[in-house]
Amino acid sequence: MSVPRQPPRDWSPDSWRDLPRSQSVEYPDGAALARAVAQLSALPPLVTPWEVGRLRSEIAEAQQGRRFFLQGGDCAESFADCRADIITNRLKVMLQMSVVLIQAGRRPVVRVGRFAGQYAKPRSSPLESRGSATLPSYFGDLVNQPEFDAAARRADPRLLVEAYWHAALTLNFVRSLGSGGFSDLHHPEYWDLSFMDGDDVADELKQRYRDTTRQLTEALRFMSALGETRGGDLTRVDFYTSHEGLSLEYEAAQTRESDHHPGHYDLTTHLPWIGERTRQLDGAHVEFFRGIENPVGVKLGPSMTADELLRLLDRLNPENDWGRLVLITRMGRAQVAERLPQLVQAVQREGRRVLWVSDPMHGNTIATQSGLKTRDFDDILSEVEQSFDVHEGFGSALGGVHLELTGEDVTECVGGGLSEADLAINYASLCDPRLNYRQALEMAFRIGERMTKSPSALGKLAGSREGG
Ligand code: PEP
Ligand code: CO
Repeated sequence: MSVPRQPPRDWSPDSWRDLPRSQSVEYPDGAALARAVAQLSALPPLVTPWEVGRLRSEIAEAQQGRRFFLQGGDCAESFADCRADIITNRLKVMLQMSVVLIQAGRRPVVRVGRFAGQYAKPRSSPLESRGSATLPSYFGDLVNQPEFDAAARRADPRLLVEAYWHAALTLNFVRSLGSGGFSDLHHPEYWDLSFMDGDDVADELKQRYRDTTRQLTEALRFMSALGETRGGDLTRVDFYTSHEGLSLEYEAAQTRESDHHPGHYDLTTHLPWIGERTRQLDGAHVEFFRGIENPVGVKLGPSMTADELLRLLDRLNPENDWGRLVLITRMGRAQVAERLPQLVQAVQREGRRVLWVSDPMHGNTIATQSGLKTRDFDDILSEVEQSFDVHEGFGSALGGVHLELTGEDVTECVGGGLSEADLAINYASLCDPRLNYRQALEMAFRIGERMTKSPSALGKLAGSREGG
């Protein structure tokens, strides 16, 4: 279905180097940078072109309404969080959410983690001042360290290699869990989180989740009893990886040709995305990502216009291939109804093949009175619901959601059981506020409720594009 593209003729893994680059990092020691990049280039890839190709096919199916796309994880992954319990809990939450969404949407869910490489962060300012001191901002564990002192904030190229090791360890553990019994949809009891039984999780939420898994398990047993092979599609649990492709040094070093697949693959991750701050048409990031075979995500904030979007699609997907582009809109609750329609209309009018995903987190960040960054559960849900409405209004469909979440019992977002006063209890994010376990599960139920309201629209879409 998704035939790999021929690499663009005027592109190479280095053709971004002379172009203007937003969010670029100064490495004071050029020789050390060259050594780190050489080491990364020689190390084996983290993912394979086969896996990347399979994700492309699944994204193509999601574009046709036959799968739903769930992308989630930390805002900033940290090396310190490369731990069995944290990784397992994050997978558990995503598995539980996917069960809820499968049940509501009646289709398989593509699970994509923001992990095994989500170590680089764009910043609103390259410098941070505290008192009379000014230092480079913290750009994520891939670049420097969060402590506010000169040595910690210096960009250190050895961290590129450290990031690779941590991504490899994470991925190794995710793959082992995936190939064992852990993620068998027939046994959802394996993914119960200990605090699911705690008093702070409402009985109603516990009961709803138990009912959902029971219904799904019964349906799966019934399908296998009938010899229905499509059940395998639901029970086989894959996790794909994704991260913002901010550091082109890191991405380019792991970009290579493969013997059996034409073109170049960025093998740090299955799905790299271009952030809202680095999507300039003539900039280095768009140049780099236009040449690789991976599916590519692009974040679209409220300043995006229909005209600019079409030009971006021309650059990133000139052949209008299936499975290539994931458009992740992050407009904010207050702006989505105004800013999204023109983009959806332009894509519909021009027949562009994209997967529309809503990121209801990044346009909804607010500061509390005490200066903490937070997000309100109701704003997040509202942006998703409004996105469903906008798409349906134009004969399009929202194909997935992109959430910042964790399996830990943190207190970073308000609503869904937490008040502003609770935020101090366990605010642990290195960057943006994440949904905790309970808020994430509740969000999945609420999104599922919205999905069940439009099954006919989705069925129609799937039917009309069959065979593409
Ligand atoms: C992010 O996803 O953490 C992020 C920085 O998003 P955006 O580029 O949409 O601001
Ligand atoms: Co974020």
